[in-house]
Amino acid sequence: MIKNIAVIFGDGIGPEVTQQSIKVLDTVAEKFGHQFNYAYCLAGAIAIDETGTPLPDETIDVCLKSDAILFGAIGHPKYDNDPSAKVRPEQGLLKLRKSLQLFANIRPVTAYSSLYHLSPLKSKVLEQVDLIIYRELTGGIYFGEKKTNEDQSWAYDGCVYTKEEVERIAHLAFQAAQQRKKKLTLVDKANVLETSRLWRKWVQQMAPQYPDVQLSFLFVDNAAMQLILNPKQFDVILTENLFGDILSDEASVISGSLGLLPSASVGFSNALFEPIHGSFSQAAGKDIANPLGSILSAAMMLDYFNLKEEAVLVREAVAWTIAHLFVTKDIDPINFYFTSTVGELICDYVSGRISGDINQENIELRKSTII
Ligand code: IPM
Ligand code: MN
Repeated sequence: MIKNIAVIFGDGIGPEVTQQSIKVLDTVAEKFGHQFNYAYCLAGAIAIDETGTPLPDETIDVCLKSDAILFGAIGHPKYDNDPSAKVRPEQGLLKLRKSLQLFANIRPVTAYSSLYHLSPLKSKVLEQVDLIIYRELTGGIYFGEKKTNEDQSWAYDGCVYTKEEVERIAHLAFQAAQQRKKKLTLVDKANVLETSRLWRKWVQQMAPQYPDVQLSFLFVDNAAMQLILNPKQFDVILTENLFGDILSDEASVISGSLGLLPSASVGFSNALFEPIHGSFSQAAGKDIANPLGSILSAAMMLDYFNLKEEAVLVREAVAWTIAHLFVTKDIDPINFYFTSTVGELICDYVSGRISGDINQENIELRKSTII
């Protein structure tokens, strides 16, 4: 199989984690006889520095022509602390989502038993957690009308949703539930918001098309509480843009590190894969960032290409590194491995070069994983 992948390294730790995913994809390609071609393009603070805009038109063109997009991270502290900045790196990501119509953001949350100790939640709460969030990504308050007056004594963000926007992502969420534990929870604020009542109405109306899926509703304030009190009650969570943004960061507490969570943003004809963590500028260039969120996003890309066996193998390799605690500093601040070493270990596992015994000393010397 030949696939053309647009790669956007972006800012901060984006380049170094994405490099690991490329190494893993290349190893998969070699093992299974595929060819992945990469086209590198700019977005984020680096694009502002080099071109004056966070998303050059050329990047959109390359992405539109590609089969999928591998995305690192964008953001820079110099913009975070300056609310008056007119041009911001995040605008690049939002514009990319909108331009490519990536309306469904899919965020799986897994709890690894060897990492239970990292979570502030009790192991008993974490056992058997396996949930997935379907977050609407191109509508709602993120993209509504924005206004403010001259002296900024008031500001306004409008929130709009249409029946079509609700239905297209709800179909994907219902279908995901059918493949999983057959439970779908719509999270909204229908006791207060008109847009939430619209979501409820149309999702409810779709339910008879999916008779095998049990549909339930939860207000977002209660959902935020239930997600950490009893996360195993959830299978597929469907929600609008802002609620999904907040709940998915909250859900990362279940995995133990934000660095572990992958995501896929899909539309009708394109898809973008990115870790949910941000640019984490303080760690940039130090080879300490966790590459697993990006590598697991690459596994989602393989799923999207329908390369199921390949995706399973990459996930198995990730689980193997976690189980052996070949992990980065966010997970083990004392006995940690470098970003690039974790990437190499995963490649070695994927290519079948790890047969059981591993040369711990070589790994520690960052030389090789092979005996
Ligand atoms: C995310 C991020 C983005 C969002 C930011 C960077 C605009 O937090 O992907 O969750 O809010 O959607
Ligand atoms: Mn977010």
